[in-house]
This record gives sequence, structure tokens and C-alpha cells, in this order.
Amino acid sequence: MKKVILTGDRPTGRLHVGHYVGSLSERVRLQNSGDYDEIYIMIADAQALTDNAEHPEKVRQNIIQVALDYLACGIDPEKSTIFIQSMVPELTELTFYYMNLVTVARVQRNPTVKSEIKMRNFEASIPVGFFCYPISQAADITAFRATTVPVGEDQMPMIEQCKEIVHKFNSVYGETLTDPQIVLPSNKACLRLPGIDGKAKMSKSLGNCIYLSDEADVVKKKVMSMFTDPNHLRVQDPGKVEGNPVFIYLDAFCKDEYFAEFLPDYQNLDELKEHYQRGGLGDVKVKKFLNKVLEAELGPIRERRKMWEQRIPDVYDILQAGSEVAEKKAAETLNDVREAMKINYFDGDFALN
Ligand code: TRP
Repeated sequence: MKKVILTGDRPTGRLHVGHYVGSLSERVRLQNSGDYDEIYIMIADAQALTDNAEHPEKVRQNIIQVALDYLACGIDPEKSTIFIQSMVPELTELTFYYMNLVTVARVQRNPTVKSEIKMRNFEASIPVGFFCYPISQAADITAFRATTVPVGEDQMPMIEQCKEIVHKFNSVYGETLTDPQIVLPSNKACLRLPGIDGKAKMSKSLGNCIYLSDEADVVKKKVMSMFTDPNHLRVQDPGKVEGNPVFIYLDAFCKDEYFAEFLPDYQNLDELKEHYQRGGLGDVKVKKFLNKVLEAELGPIRERRKMWEQRIPDVYDILQAGSEVAEKKAAETLNDVREAMKINYFDGDFALN
């Protein structure tokens, strides 16, 4: 069986370091492993519209921002097909058929949907399109016969729901769809990077993100303003590393070689943590180190982004060419689906029954 990756993001804002450690860096690693036959990276504009129906401009503007972030991180259009969801109308048709295989109660139980309904104050009245987005996400994944879906931890319930749809479809209509596997980052700190204010989630509306496109001085300002252990008031006080955003970021980004380069008094992160817990290590020193680590990681991404910003027409060409490739693949799957569902009326074999 072919090994196929499908994943994507909603274009509702520029991507941040949470996206990077949670999923983007993993995608680039998988892309460059050479282990995959096909890789599809989707900009999920139709899904973004499910809760931004009144703001199509916002979605439109962020398509190019997300594309730039992808290219900046090292998604290589020679190896990966980057495309726009709404340019593949087969996905909506698949969604329509899958809707018959899912109950309202099942979507209501989806934890991600539940928390998003709360967050968006949809409790009183939920847009139908929004409610159906987990089903449309199953269409995205299955249309490409994805075997592997590298995403952030928050997407786990979506992949579970997709697998259920696959099993249901295959049991009702015969073995047709491919069962996907989720891939999460192996580093625990990367699963959910907190905001710079220590809040559980990095989110644009909370204003607590470090963006991949932030300039070096902006990143530095954000790092120096980060929350730490609130009880670590004086340098000599013992500090806590658990739940301390500065150390969680170091867990996510730091490599041993950065100590030799930027902070040679320590060999590795364990030694630094040990000193902090013992007392005698100030937050400013740790933050300055974190800033250097982030700069080492984000500097090359920022430079690549700037290079692509000079070539916006080429970026649109990449998206258009990618969307054409993606549509071909989705159309093949849709044909198989129609055949399995016996709604391929004009494929020959014209008989009375
Ligand atoms: N739900 C994802 C997000 O919020 C975007 C997405 C849409 C997606 N379809 C997908 C991710 C299919 C993985 C697979 O960013």
C-alpha cells in the first residue's frame, strides 16, 4: 500500500511556534525522510469559513500567509503538494455522502467541537456547516487515501471520528476507504506549547503567540516578557520548572549543542533546570538563553519567508498547480466512492435492475 500524508491548517492567521513544534516541523521531517509516496498539505479555507462565514476577506488574506509559513518552514513544493481546500470541490460531495453515516449525537460528543462551540459562543445556535466540519475533515483525509495524518494533539478527536466514518463506510458499501493513522510529536513539550503568558493555549485572540514571521526584536521582547514561576522572586530563591513556560519552551526547542554555543557553563537542559530548582539562577539569564535558542531555530525560517515574500506570484502558481494535482487524486477516490455506493449510473451495464 502507498504511504500517503494529508494534513493542513485553517487560514485564519499567521502560523506560530506552537504550530511549528506541534506539527509543522514533524511534517518537514516526514517529507524529508523519503518514506512517503505522496504528501498533501492543505490550506483549509472552506473549513475556516465554517466559523468565519462573515469574514471571507480574513480567510482570503491568510491563505498566502499560511502558504508563506509552510514554505518558510521547509515544506518543499517539489516533494509536497500544497493546495487550497475549496479548489477541490470533490471534497464537498464526499462530505455530503459521509453525513449520512454520522449521527448528530456523535458530533456533539466530539471534544474539540464541544470546546469550540463554547469558545465561539455557538451554544444557543450552531451553524450547520460548522457542526459538520469534522465530517468534512474526514472527506479531506479519505479523498487522498491518507495513511498518515501529522497534526497537533487538539486534532485527535477529528482523526478518531474520521476512522469511524471509514469503518462505517467500508462495512456498509464494501472495502473502499483507507484507514488513517495520526502522528503526534514524540516530545511531550511540543504537544501543546503554552502562550507566553502561561495560558494553556497559544492563540491569536489571547495575544500570547510568537509568530514564525515575527522579527528578531519582536521575538526578544516577547521572550523577555514571558511568565515564569511566580514564586521565583529573587535570584537566590529556588524556582519551579514544571509548568514554567520558559522551561517548557526550552524543552520543546533546546538541543544540547546550544549550550556549548550560547551558555557553556552548562552541558545540557537538565543541568540548567537543576540550578534553577536549587536557586541562584535568575529568570533573565534563562530568558536570554531561550531567546538565542529561538533565534537559532527561527532565524533561518524568517529568512526563507522573506525570500518567498519577494516571489508572491510564484507562491500562487504553486498553490494553483498543487490544487490541480489534488483535485485529480480526489476525483479518483470520488469515483471509487460512487461505484461502491452504486450511484455511478452511467458507467455502462445498462440493465433494468
Ligand atoms: N482542523 C485543522 C485545523 O484546525 C485543519 C484541517 C482541515 C485538517 N482538514 C484537515 C488537518 C485534515 C488534518 C487533516 O487546523
